[in-house]
Amino acid sequence: MMIITGATGQLGRGVVDRLLARVPADRIGVSVRDVPRAGDLARRGVRVRRGDFADPASLAYAFEGASRVLVVSGPADAGPHRTAIEAAKAAGAGRILYTSHMGANPASPFLPMPSHAETEHDLREIGVPFTALRNGFYATTALNFVSQALETGRLVAPEDGPVSWTAHADLAEAAAIALTEDGRLDGVTPPLTGPESLDLADVAAIASELTGREITRVTVPDGEWVAGMVSRGMPEQQARFLLGMFEASRRGEFAEAGPALGDLLGRKPAALRDVLANR
Ligand SMILES: NC(=O)c1ccc[n+]([C@@H]2O[C@H](COP(=O)([O-])OP(=O)(O)OC[C@H]3O[C@@H](n4cnc5c(N)ncnc54)[C@H](OP(=O)(O)O)[C@@H]3O)[C@@H](O)[C@H]2O)c1
Repeated sequence: MMIITGATGQLGRGVVDRLLARVPADRIGVSVRDVPRAGDLARRGVRVRRGDFADPASLAYAFEGASRVLVVSGPADAGPHRTAIEAAKAAGAGRILYTSHMGANPASPFLPMPSHAETEHDLREIGVPFTALRNGFYATTALNFVSQALETGRLVAPEDGPVSWTAHADLAEAAAIALTEDGRLDGVTPPLTGPESLDLADVAAIASELTGREITRVTVPDGEWVAGMVSRGMPEQQARFLLGMFEASRRGEFAEAGPALGDLLGRKPAALRDVLANR
């Protein structure tokens, strides 16, 4: 049985939907924090059990009988993911898959990246075949910038760098392939990304074209941006966390637009323009 965690989240749900098109429902199990929220999956024949990375006993139950486990990353911290991969090993899984991120590295100023790098290290150490899916940056983040910018006509953010924005749907399909097609992906994958790298000025230009409303990209100094977010009620720690995303992007950590996702899917991954047009 294949176990998917985070199946009440956007990516995990997408993976389960695609798995249901590939394998019988009785070969799929989900590990979720809130069982009633997966009621529709249970009705489709998927095994639904409660599992929380903060509660190892719950994972032993949720992962029972696992042949492989997809650990969808949840919190930004590596500790809970270590608990999950240890539980997958203890359950006897023959492969552990994990949603890592392109640009995972210990020195990144964007805190989830050192955390993903730590989990990749844990996977190398655990002694079970593994696949660390180095997912590209979600296009939904660009979508959020555009939604906010449409209110004012200004996309206000710190200096950024190019990002190979990637659709959830494509990443969900890639994970379903990795779960069901042996030998396609092993170890740390190349970046699984959308087809082109675009910075926020490019994003604003595409959004202007698609909506017919002029959106101007406005770059503000880092400190001014943090102060502005705090004045609008965001805790300073969170504003600094988000600033790390811009710092990492201008170091080029999310810039690569490689062929790996397209090769895996057998088609061109969705471009940001498609995602924005279909929003
Ligand atoms: N590639 C990117 O650009 C990017 C961007 C942002 C985040 N991410 C990472 O990708 C993950 C999946 O993305 P998504 O869009 O599906 O996010 P999402 O919709 O927020 O889903 C996250 C899932 O993780 C589960 N989770 C959180 N804490 C958990 C815990 N302690 N134990 C077990 N499960 C836990 C959540 O459970 P509940 O449903 O019960 O809340 C949820 O199902 C995110 O969680 C994050 O780690 C990637």
